[in-house]
Amino acid sequence: MPEGVPPEGLQRRWRDLVDRRLPQAARARPEWPVRLDHCFARILLDNACGGPWRESVAAPAWANMPAERLAFAIDLGEAVLSAKADLDLLNRRSLVWRGKGGFKGRGRPAPAPGSLTGDGFLLRRWIRADDAPFAGLNADPEVMRFFPSTKDRGESLIEARSLDRRFEVDGFGPWAVAVPGEGFVGFVGAMRLIRPMPFAGGEAVGSIVEIGWRLARSAQGRGLATRAARLALDDLSGRCLVPAVVAFTAACNAPSRRVMERLDMAFSEEFLHPSLLAGDPLQPHVLYRLTMPEPSAARDRVSRDRAPGNHRS
Ligand SMILES: CC(C)(COP(=O)(O)OP(=O)(O)OC[C@H]1O[C@@H](n2cnc3c(N)ncnc32)[C@H](O)[C@@H]1OP(=O)(O)O)[C@@H](O)C(=O)NCCC(=O)NCCS
Repeated sequence: MPEGVPPEGLQRRWRDLVDRRLPQAARARPEWPVRLDHCFARILLDNACGGPWRESVAAPAWANMPAERLAFAIDLGEAVLSAKADLDLLNRRSLVWRGKGGFKGRGRPAPAPGSLTGDGFLLRRWIRADDAPFAGLNADPEVMRFFPSTKDRGESLIEARSLDRRFEVDGFGPWAVAVPGEGFVGFVGAMRLIRPMPFAGGEAVGSIVEIGWRLARSAQGRGLATRAARLALDDLSGRCLVPAVVAFTAACNAPSRRVMERLDMAFSEEFLHPSLLAGDPLQPHVLYRLTMPEPSAARDRVSRDRAPGNHRS
């Protein structure tokens, strides 16, 4: 069996879920926007892939998709069945990615600006020229030492596209970080948490916003992640009116925890990451939470920070 192909048991669970259990459950759920097996498959696979699934996986997806991603799609389907995921929200995300509308009137996110200017860096939407340096940092074992593995070029490309697509469906997302004279050095920004997670609120798909970061080795150790995250958070509370965020990382990831502490995030709890195996040193994770300031206070803070000679590190 080629590496990463879903084991048969997982494939069977997927087919039973979309071919039988979801269509059957739909008979008692008139409010669900879809009832057919291929519609459930589209919605779950698109959300697990962060975009139209056919752009990153050959059909049939259940046989060709990386096992970890199929497991994510199954988790999402189980969350739909147990009313922990809003099928309508997941469907609208999928339709937006496919250029078929999705959000009408209320619920449509305010479009994100093309960029936000920080002190010595720019947060901007992703461009194709980011692909090569992003693949470089994803292939660097030092950068990826708190992840299960490095990523090859293909996986890195899929990730770049799906990170930028977050802006289309949510109005915010993980910004590409560019530094004058250095270009693209990584990403910092927020994402709606779509994978069900075992912490308070995390099981309700889409209701929690997570902030995260990943920088090339050459950009680390300069306080850049913290400064970029502050700018992203100001935009998130001021423009997007997001009231709170979480951040999580492997308990042993001291640099990432330091960023969370510098952002005045409060330690909330420890949990075991559901996609890592028992005994994996990366499985124990820590969760931090931040309640955002009132939008007007956030706006005041932005103008104060942008006043000449008033830079925070
Ligand atoms: C986590 C990360 C974004 C922090 O960004 P940063 O801009 O380097 O953060 P800072 O400069 O504020 O440094 C944070 C702390 O990490 C330490 N640090 C930074 N780079 C480091 C490195 N390469 N090795 C060891 N420690 C490092 C800093 O000394 C600082 O500790 P201190 O506050 O005790 O002095 C960055 O280290 C990174 O991209 N890591 C790899 C990807 C990753 O783990 N992402 C998080 C996944 S949840």
